[in-house]
Amino acid sequence: MALRFRRPRGTEDILPERAGHWQFLEARIRNVMSRFGYREVRTPILEEAELFVRSVGEDTDIVSKEMYTFQDRGGRWMALKPEGTAPVVRAYLEHGFHRQGGLVKLYYLSPIFRYEKPQAGRYRQSHQFGAEAIGSGEPALDVEVIDLAMSIYREVGLSNFALLLNSVGCHKCRPAYREALLRFARAGQDQLCEDCRRRMEVNPLRILDCKEKGCRRTMVKAPVFSDYLCPDCRAHFEEVQGSLRDLGIPYRVEPRLVRGLDYYTRTAFEVVHGGLGAQNAIGGGGRYDGLVEELGGPSTPALGFAGGMERTLMALEAEGRLPERDEQVEAFVAYTDDPGKEVFPKVLSQLRRAGVGADGAYTVQSLKAQLRQANRKGARYVVILGGEELRRGKVVVRDMRRSEQEEVPLEEVLGFMSNKDRSVWGPQKYKGGR
Ligand code: HAM
Repeated sequence: MALRFRRPRGTEDILPERAGHWQFLEARIRNVMSRFGYREVRTPILEEAELFVRSVGEDTDIVSKEMYTFQDRGGRWMALKPEGTAPVVRAYLEHGFHRQGGLVKLYYLSPIFRYEKPQAGRYRQSHQFGAEAIGSGEPALDVEVIDLAMSIYREVGLSNFALLLNSVGCHKCRPAYREALLRFARAGQDQLCEDCRRRMEVNPLRILDCKEKGCRRTMVKAPVFSDYLCPDCRAHFEEVQGSLRDLGIPYRVEPRLVRGLDYYTRTAFEVVHGGLGAQNAIGGGGRYDGLVEELGGPSTPALGFAGGMERTLMALEAEGRLPERDEQVEAFVAYTDDPGKEVFPKVLSQLRRAGVGADGAYTVQSLKAQLRQANRKGARYVVILGGEELRRGKVVVRDMRRSEQEEVPLEEVLGFMSNKDRSVWGPQKYKGGR
C-alpha cells in the first residue's frame, strides 16, 4: 500500500508503547520540580514572532534560520515557539507577577519547533522540560537551578552525564571580550566557514558555537571569557562554583561555552550525556538578567534551564534505564463460545467499575490466542469465561505470572479481583532512580 500521508520530516508519532516512557519521565520531572518549589505554567504554542527576535536574538540560528514563522489571517507575523523562556517571561509580565515582588519560580513541559536538519537526537518538533526563576540575582539561585537540573537527570535514572559551566559576563564586560574575539576571528578568517565570516561582524560570539570543523579548529585558541570578566561577574562566578563544590555537584569549567541564544548573562551551562552522538546536550540554561527589561518590564534578574525530553529518553535507553513495561491492563477477560460471549460485556464493565483495569479481545478466538494477547497487554490475570464452567456458575481466574489458575463463582469474581494485588507488573519493575 502506497501511503498518501506521512508525518512531517523531523517530527515523531509517540506510539502507546513509548508513551509509557514519556509518562514516566514527565511524572518524575513534575515530582522534582514541585519539590524544589516550582509551579507549572502553560503558554501557547504560538507567539508573536517579534517576541523571539527581541529575546533569543535576530542573529541567532534559532531566529534567523530555524523559526517556523507565518502570517496569520489578520496579517500578524506569528511563530511556533522555538523555546520556552521568552513566552514565560512574556506571561510573567502580562499577568503582573513583577508587581507582586519577590521570586517567581515556574516550570513547563512543552513542544518546541525548530526548522533544523533532522538527525539522531535533533527534531523539528521536540519537547522540553524547563524551569525559570525570576526575581533574584543571587548566586545561590544559579546553584538551585543547576541542582534542580542535575536532580532531574539523576532521579529519572541517569548517571553518565556531566555539567559544563561558564560565565558569559554582562553588558559591562562583554563588549571588551567581543572586541578581543573579533580581532582573533579576523586574524584567522580564512579558516572560518562562510556563515562565520558573516557572523563575525554581527555577532562574533556565535562563532564559538559553530559546529564546522575548520571553525572549531580555529577557535580552540580563541580568547576566553574569564580573562575579561568585570569584578562583579568574576565574584558571582566564583561564588557559584564555591556553592556547587559545597553541594558536591561536580562540574567542568568550559571557558569557551556560549549558548545558541543571545539573552544570557553571567552563568551559562550545559548538561551533556556520554552515551549520545553529536547531539549530546540533554539540557542547558543560564542567567538572563536583561531579558525582563528587554521585554518591557522593570530590570529583574532571572535564570532558568531547559532539558530535551527526546534526548533524555535516548540517554536513558543508552544506559539501559528505560522502565521495562508501563502499566497496562490488570485483567484480561477471555471467552471461547456462546455463554461466555453473553456475559463477557457485563463482566468487563463491572470489573472496570470496581476499579480493575480490564480489557478483552471482542472476537471469538482460541484461548491460546487470547492468552497471548493478555500477555502482550501485560495483564497479570485472565478471567476465562469457559462454557463448561459457566454452566456450573463458575469462571476460571488465571494468574499469568505464577502460571496458576483457580475456579471462582461468577458472582464472586468482582470481589475476588478487587482484593488481588494486581500491580505486580506495574512500575515497581523499574529498577532505576529513587
Ligand atoms: P537550548 O539549549 O536551545 O536552550 O535547548 C535546551 C535543550 O532542548 C537542549 O539541550 C536539547 O536537549 C533540547 N533541544 C533543543 N533543540 C532540540 C531539537 N531540535 N531536537 C531535540 N532536542 C532539542 C533553550 O531552549 C533555553 N530556553 C533554555 C533556558 C531556559 N535558558 C534559560 N531558561
